[in-house]
Amino acid sequence: MHAVEISQYGAPEVLVPCERPIPEAKAGEVLVRVAAAGVNRPDVLQRTGNYPVPPGASDLPGLEVAGTIVGGDVGESGLRIGDRVCALVQGGGYAQYCTVPWQQCLPVPAGLSDIEAASLPETFFTVWSNVFDRGALAEGETLLVQGGTSGIGVTAIQLARAMGHRVFATAGSDEKCRACEQLGAERGINYRTEDFVEVVKSLTGKRGVDVVLDMVGGDYVPREIACMADDGRLVLIALLGGAKAEVPLGHVLRRRLTLTGSTLRPRPVAFKAAIAVALRTHVWPLLESGAIKPVIAQVFDLDDAAAAHRLMETSTHIGKIVLKVA
Ligand SMILES: NC(=O)c1ccc[n+]([C@@H]2O[C@H](COP(=O)([O-])OP(=O)(O)OC[C@H]3O[C@@H](n4cnc5c(N)ncnc54)[C@H](OP(=O)(O)O)[C@@H]3O)[C@@H](O)[C@H]2O)c1
Repeated sequence: MHAVEISQYGAPEVLVPCERPIPEAKAGEVLVRVAAAGVNRPDVLQRTGNYPVPPGASDLPGLEVAGTIVGGDVGESGLRIGDRVCALVQGGGYAQYCTVPWQQCLPVPAGLSDIEAASLPETFFTVWSNVFDRGALAEGETLLVQGGTSGIGVTAIQLARAMGHRVFATAGSDEKCRACEQLGAERGINYRTEDFVEVVKSLTGKRGVDVVLDMVGGDYVPREIACMADDGRLVLIALLGGAKAEVPLGHVLRRRLTLTGSTLRPRPVAFKAAIAVALRTHVWPLLESGAIKPVIAQVFDLDDAAAAHRLMETSTHIGKIVLKVA
């Protein structure tokens, strides 16, 4: 099969087309003929040697695909050979074929293209797990999303808004802030020209937000604590701004704050299976009704994966970058 591999760690050019054997589905796995594969920031980290491949996973990049089940074990998924699916995979998405546990497959939501479906799994699994499970965003509570126009950000804004929450989001330009607002954020906050702490305090009548979804870390952490409500939860999913922070522990103590975080990729199949069930129940109807829409920034051919990574590293995109495979 045709694929794109990481020939060595380094700049986008290290992503090169290659030929590989079609992977064999193991017990409990299906074989998917890939039509499209999503690009995610963790792929960039993997390419630069900063995100080790979990044991047993493909060394090829790519954490999400959409395509057709062409073989393997569909288990109790209710899916059949020949069905169109999108899937959260542990690697190997940048290829014509990919294997994945059946529990991590979801039907393509009615009305969506393969490109749109391939843009869903990684961010929807991550946002559901971190905002609603770990962060326990409850009825009537507010959410602050850092990086509002990232793939993760556009998903978090739309999902929380569709569930009836007030959402605030930060981004690095006025244009990106307006995009956040069009997706449902009450206010996009340009972190280059505004202090998100002051804006959030003013928008919440000094109360602060209940949950923060943060991909920045570093010196954002004490500032986030400064604009969190009592009993607030800070959920870290990446450390783009640094792995160390000075934490005002007095606030954690007095205001009963929770600092937590997670990474999805190394979690076991059973953990991802539970998220898939929740997504199918609570989120797939919202995608099928059009209440939530995939946000596609740009589509590249599989062989142009290097150009896709180059775009991601400019951070000028809004939403998801997708590779067209078939
Ligand atoms: N924990 C998990 O399980 C998990 C799963 C998936 C993704 N992630 C993480 O979530 C983050 C978003 O992923 P994605 O695929 O949605 O990424 P993406 O679309 O490339 O978006 C990243 C955005 O972060 C913003 N940003 C803020 N500070 C930055 C900095 N110091 N360097 C670079 N960008 C910065 C940029 O927007 P502005 O121009 O507005 O600053 C950029 O557009 C990544 O860090 C990724 O590793 C974590």
